[in-house]
Amino acid sequence: MIRQGLSKKVPISIALLAERCSRGLSTESRKLEEKVALITGAASGIGKATAAKFISNGAKVVIADIQHQLGQQTAKELGPNATFIACDVTKESDVSDAVDFTISKHNQLDIMYNNAGVACKTPRSIVDLNLEVFDQVMRINVRGVVAGIKHSTRVMIPRRSGCILCTASVTGLLGGLAQHTYSVSKSAIIGLVKSMAAELCEYGIRINCISPFAIPTPFVMEEMSQIYAGVDASRLLELVYSTGVLEGTHCEPNDIANAALYLASDDAKYVSGHNLVVDGGFTSFKNLKLPAPVQVL
Ligand SMILES: NC(=O)c1ccc[n+]([C@@H]2O[C@H](COP(=O)([O-])OP(=O)(O)OC[C@H]3O[C@@H](n4cnc5c(N)ncnc54)[C@H](O)[C@@H]3O)[C@@H](O)[C@H]2O)c1
Repeated sequence: MIRQGLSKKVPISIALLAERCSRGLSTESRKLEEKVALITGAASGIGKATAAKFISNGAKVVIADIQHQLGQQTAKELGPNATFIACDVTKESDVSDAVDFTISKHNQLDIMYNNAGVACKTPRSIVDLNLEVFDQVMRINVRGVVAGIKHSTRVMIPRRSGCILCTASVTGLLGGLAQHTYSVSKSAIIGLVKSMAAELCEYGIRINCISPFAIPTPFVMEEMSQIYAGVDASRLLELVYSTGVLEGTHCEPNDIANAALYLASDDAKYVSGHNLVVDGGFTSFKNLKLPAPVQVL
């Protein structure tokens, strides 16, 4: 339903768009020429949009995702410079195999984007927290990212170069925007990027994360349709968009793909340990919401 709604607004496929953009960009303006990227959670949403953006900028991309069918479909859609490998980031051997597969296919790994993540379906209060669910979310959102960093640096350190990206979230910056478990998992990403940057700078490897605002990917829309059971997709979309503060626009996967392209390219060659917040200003301010003088007098 959601996809239908969105595809009405965007009638050409993401692959076609990637191809057209790629043809439109001169070799000089393609920012990732000759680069190889491995992106986890790239079968859909932010990861898929980033894969398309990287390809249109000259990169070869390996899509690593737990959804086999959708991952294969996405790779096909994105064309010959995309390959799919099945990978559950909670299994260290899968992450290690994805890195080795990338090296065997392309001889190098320049960009590792640890993007896979899940929402957390637990009751709101800490009193009712299910610690099994907590552990499972941490296994994907935090341990999966740590495994990605561990195995990508295994091949990047000997080359003394590389770029690592991770998807954090505005919910990791401010409390109250999501369930505790999810927020904590994303705060951990912001922290681990800083910790890893301290070591990796010695090898010329940059590591950064991106904190997106709410975007109506399957991840968010599934949660919305559970909270607002029976409410139609276009209304749910409106509700997601209504949370933003920047007038006249919405946060979209392509905004995160643009941030990832910047961080992965030489444009950000001296940026490391950074959390690039893409939220239209949401986490920068609070309004006091005082009444206007005429309302008080
Ligand atoms: N959509 C938002 O509003 C939003 C905001 C902030 C951060 N994020 C983060 O962005 C990232 C991408 O999410 P999205 O919004 O594109 O959602 P999405 O559901 O479209 O994509 C998430 C992808 O991760 C994959 N995945 C889930 N568990 C996995 C596992 N164990 N191993 C490998 N792959 C796995 C899924 O199959 C899916 O393809 C997540 O880390 C999410 O926490 C999303």
